Amino acid sequence: MSQNPGSSAYMSGFGNEFATEALPGALPVHRNSPQRVAYGLYAEQISGTAFTAPRSHNRRSWLYRIRPAAVHGSFTRLDAGRIVSRFDTPAPPDQLRWSPLPIPDAPTDFIDGWVTMAGNGSPDAMNGCAIHLYAANKDMDGRYFYNADGELLLVPQQGRLAIATEMGLIELEPQEIAVIPRGVRFQVSLPDGAARGYICENYGALLRLPDMGPIGSNGLANPRDFLTPAARYEDLEGKFELVTKFCGGMWRADIGHSPLDVVAWHGNYAPCKYDLRHFNTIGSISYDHPDPSIFLVLQAPSDTPGVDTLDFVIFPPRWLVGEDTFRPPWFHRNVASEFMGLIHGAYDAKAEGFVPGGASLHNCMSGHGPDAATFDKASSADTAQPHKVADTMAFMFETRNVLVPTAQALASPRLQADYQQCWAGIGKHFRPAP
Ligand SMILES: [Fe+2]
Repeated sequence: MSQNPGSSAYMSGFGNEFATEALPGALPVHRNSPQRVAYGLYAEQISGTAFTAPRSHNRRSWLYRIRPAAVHGSFTRLDAGRIVSRFDTPAPPDQLRWSPLPIPDAPTDFIDGWVTMAGNGSPDAMNGCAIHLYAANKDMDGRYFYNADGELLLVPQQGRLAIATEMGLIELEPQEIAVIPRGVRFQVSLPDGAARGYICENYGALLRLPDMGPIGSNGLANPRDFLTPAARYEDLEGKFELVTKFCGGMWRADIGHSPLDVVAWHGNYAPCKYDLRHFNTIGSISYDHPDPSIFLVLQAPSDTPGVDTLDFVIFPPRWLVGEDTFRPPWFHRNVASEFMGLIHGAYDAKAEGFVPGGASLHNCMSGHGPDAATFDKASSADTAQPHKVADTMAFMFETRNVLVPTAQALASPRLQADYQQCWAGIGKHFRPAP
């Protein structure tokens, strides 16, 4: 095996036109596909959008690699285990909440550790998304994976991930996120021995940074804080396995070499990571608070302007200063559907029950909001004083279409049967007479 020296190295920006080479002169000059590529490499394009997509949305990269991606054995179907891609379970309108997925006892690598919780749309129609939890305790050993069904938004909650991709190495820790584009091959190892977190598999239009409207040009996630890995390759021969998720199924093929053999690449279709702690939080400095869209990190737009297939929203540490204001998230119902997770600390709308690694689902028009203890505390708080919501990092996958929970999620022993009791203590305070 040979590998270019160095570990992770990154280039800054989101969806920029990057150019990187692990060997000097490996990148062709002027031509994408010269007659002969330096070092005996093959030129190959990976397109993440239609060839004719507008230039501002067009995403593709040119890879210069030891062997083309076509070189592998034929695929055979694998048991998909706990990965679900069809969402046809009758969805209850109940508010749902789950305790965290335990780290498995049996050896389980990153791919085998997925458990699908909910989803909508379908991978073959290329719209909607699936939401998975993962829990793993073993490196992917001799296995490489790519997802043809969608791009992956990875949200680790416990344990670091070392994600060796075709286009470079991403080292990821809790409170960071990564986006792995559809089709990009990768292998995950676990530097801490065990890892747990959340995955949103986006079947539809690519995630992008939102426009900011009246906020102006500064705020939310800064493009320069997104980091894309520099080229890094393996020249490795052996008996390996290439696993893919395609059209809702899991498949495997033999491959006689590491597919992480890209020596140089250029383009704007590439994996990246982002540290959520760099988010520039926006909020009210007078009264009330704006809609949670001010916490939008990434969005996957739909065909309807202003309506996203998927929004990735975070609730980071921040100051609350609104006067004469109920400061926690308000009671509400929403045309969108909300799957929440907690990465770190405590969430300010719930006193207990929603713990790091856990999850909740509030579907279209299902009422929710702070629990009774939080309501009581916030209703009597001195709002002349600022309050720091510290030591927290919650997030939400918010979708345009109803998130249909999977049968295994509804039957899970981690489903909290008493979740609705968190609102049972909300009493009647109505006094029609003064
Ligand atoms: Fe909500």
